[in-house]
Amino acid sequence: MKIIIGNIKLTNLVSNQSKPLKGEILVPGDKSISHRALIIGSMAVGRTIINGILESEDIISTSNALKELGISIYKQDSDKWFIDGNGISGFKTPNKSLNLGNSGTGIRLLMGAISGSNIIATFIGDDSLSKRPMLRIIKPLELMGASILKQNSGKIPITLSGPKELVSIQYKSPVASAQIKSALLLAGLAANGISEIIEPIKSRDHTENMLNFFGAAISSSLNKEGNNTVKLKGQPYLKAQNFIVPSDPSSAAFPIVASLIIPGSKIKINDMMINPTRIGLIDTLKEMGAKISLSNHKTICGENTATIHAEYSKLKGVTVPASRTASMIDEYPILAIAASKAEGNTFMKGISELRLKESDRIKMISSGLNSSGIKTIETEDSLNIFGGNVKGGCKLKSNLDHRIAMSFLILGLVAKEPIVVQDCDTINSSFPNFKILMKKLGANISGANF
Ligand code: S3P
Repeated sequence: MKIIIGNIKLTNLVSNQSKPLKGEILVPGDKSISHRALIIGSMAVGRTIINGILESEDIISTSNALKELGISIYKQDSDKWFIDGNGISGFKTPNKSLNLGNSGTGIRLLMGAISGSNIIATFIGDDSLSKRPMLRIIKPLELMGASILKQNSGKIPITLSGPKELVSIQYKSPVASAQIKSALLLAGLAANGISEIIEPIKSRDHTENMLNFFGAAISSSLNKEGNNTVKLKGQPYLKAQNFIVPSDPSSAAFPIVASLIIPGSKIKINDMMINPTRIGLIDTLKEMGAKISLSNHKTICGENTATIHAEYSKLKGVTVPASRTASMIDEYPILAIAASKAEGNTFMKGISELRLKESDRIKMISSGLNSSGIKTIETEDSLNIFGGNVKGGCKLKSNLDHRIAMSFLILGLVAKEPIVVQDCDTINSSFPNFKILMKKLGANISGANF
């Protein structure tokens, strides 16, 4: 049910105990890859055609921002997006502020991408994005020659201007963040010379894969400590491509965990991307005793995919090491739901970055679980969850965090009493057909009349 307050619409959803989930689904295109396909397609020469792009609010925000930056992007047929790229330094000064809505990836990657064009742009976003740190991006961009004309203590609104010429840098990132790495690589495209980005643990490598696919000279190497060094040769000729976006493992995570915790469930998810930098959740769930198997392996535009088979499993708690955070950074909320139904405790270490996501996810997971009858202990950078009886019977806020909303709707499917999640419009950021696909599998999720 949609309640209209002023011009803000709030959709509440309720999830109730469900019968076994059955059947097979295909989840929408990967969010990270969709952002990158739009941005890199805009920086290539010629017409890029993208199939299977994720049509969610975050991606529409990036597409609208690129249009403001002078790029022609349009959709034809049912599933094909066309981008007429203007080259690496081809962005134009926009007539209005670039509103990236809820999207941290969109705003951070675009800050890097436009730094190679001699233009001025102001970035804004919603209440959640306005609280998120941007210094991690704009500081290294300044080292490359970009100017920050206006900022609000490292938060948006931020006005950025690209110099006539960017310089390549060697940058050691303090955090394993694909957003930092990608922003600097996209800026590095315009710089003369080799850009070198070093990250403490390898984060998702879609920017590297896609730049390679579009013709850039880019390489990466891991040292003994697990540090990852990426080297990019500046000013490559990026040639437009036909690109297919594989399915998003971060969206598939919700039906996968639902099937593991609802007795009698058995589901199949077709052609999910299985890039090793993205499937830490699958490794963790298997350690917990999950019956998950993979078949039908394929490679699509430089990314590997497989069909995932998952069924109800008796789970046990595990310790999730800090070294795994990068490969499952977005999956902790849904892992917490699996942990609630596991025997014993699940201890998640080294997760302070979760406090800087769409919401403070450690706090949101912990308080939502406590309201549902599950005990937790949180510290600044860890969370311990004690599996037990999920009572439910609570009303939870999403705080403009799509993954928090979806996770607690999944918890409601195994709770004694229903769980209501308020303001579920936020789910449209990443997984617009979440409710439809979950219902197709048999999940009892509907509009809430309160
Ligand atoms: C993303 C990187 C991650 C992730 C986000 C998507 C990306 O952020 O949380 O949802 O597409 O590069 P960080 O790189 O900041 O950890």
